[in-house]
Amino acid sequence: MHILVTGGTGYIGSHAVVELIREGHTVLVADNLVNSTEESLRRVAQIVGQPIPFVNVDLREREQVERMFQAQPKFDCCMHFAGLKAVGESVAQPLRYYENNLNSTIVLADVMGKHGCKNIIFSSSATVYGTPDHIPVTEDCPKGIISNPYGQTKSMIEQILTDVHTADPGWNVVLLRYFNPIGAHPSGLIGEDPTGTPNNLMPYITQVAVGKLKELGIFGNDYDTPDGTGVRDYIHVVDLAKGHVKALQALERNCGVAIYNLGTGRGYSVLELVNAFMKATGVNIPYSIKPRRPGDIAIYYSDPSKAKRELGWEAELGVEEMCADAWRWQENNPQGFQ
Ligand code: NAD
Ligand code: UFG
Repeated sequence: MHILVTGGTGYIGSHAVVELIREGHTVLVADNLVNSTEESLRRVAQIVGQPIPFVNVDLREREQVERMFQAQPKFDCCMHFAGLKAVGESVAQPLRYYENNLNSTIVLADVMGKHGCKNIIFSSSATVYGTPDHIPVTEDCPKGIISNPYGQTKSMIEQILTDVHTADPGWNVVLLRYFNPIGAHPSGLIGEDPTGTPNNLMPYITQVAVGKLKELGIFGNDYDTPDGTGVRDYIHVVDLAKGHVKALQALERNCGVAIYNLGTGRGYSVLELVNAFMKATGVNIPYSIKPRRPGDIAIYYSDPSKAKRELGWEAELGVEEMCADAWRWQENNPQGFQ
């Protein structure tokens, strides 16, 4: 298939491009580089042994998007990774998040429809469940109260794309709800490259490991979990990327709107992840217990069985690979892609 990968220079999109090329698809990556660099695609090219076509496009700019579609053979599908994603920043800059994430999706979907490309796979998030109704979280778990504008944009975009399908059943929409993607490509060439101090656990751990940060703060050890620290469903980014390739099957059988959790189905606490990292890498991670982080919930992990049943996808890599690969990337690239 010929696939438009928006946000394809970013963390997850770049890993998806690797898996798409490996499976024989052709891609065009579209990104405005607001949170990434083209260097990631040079690295992807090194991994797959061929250059990756790229256009610098801001998806909110209709003329740019139109021009991109006109210059290309018809896309069979769009994998829509592009968006702003920092939870804390979205609380401080709500308008920027709503404006960027919603407008880019609206322009993209409109131009896609006009050019007869009505298949989209969207990067959603487990955050749409809020405090989940039940655990493990299944896809029929109702959406919950979402505490930040970033998460709201995910929920709203899910609704917008669902409405687009309702208006024109020719559309197929796959909503992939990611749990906690971590890790990096095993080559050590691509990985997560956060700007500033990381907000998420694994990049914080790897920056402590490489000596850029002094110690990890663990946000609360008084949760109702086995060791008191928060429990999440961490998933290797390569498994996540493969899940996108498998999701193409749903489009091929005209799925309408289909929702899949992408997780492992296994929860790890913060302390378990820190210990797994030290074991997998031999690097010590100093830490101290800090107060709970506002908005965090104690525990959630996925029931990923729907993706296995319907797409034949399941996560294959365990927490050791997640830690070892995250560390290889960080150790080889202490300054990220710079
Ligand atoms: P990322 O920031 O590395 O990649 C997103 C890319 O989108 C960036 O390269 C950025 O430059 C681009 N972008 C943003 N606005 C754009 C615009 N208007 N036009 C063109 N490009 C634009 O993030 P990621 O971690 O790779 O996440 C990819 C997607 O998955 C995002 O939509 C994110 O919200 C979603 N997601 C991520 C996680 C996670 O933990 N990383 C979890 C759930 C969902
Ligand atoms: N944590 C720490 N110290 C840190 C960072 C995190 O103890 O420095 C803890 C958190 O309290 C939480 C766990 O580690 O218990 C995981 O935190 P992350 O920030 O890595 O991930 P979250 O589960 O909070 O959220 C992430 C993304 C969201 C996304 C969600 C579900 O940041 O965008 O996963 O996919 F919505």
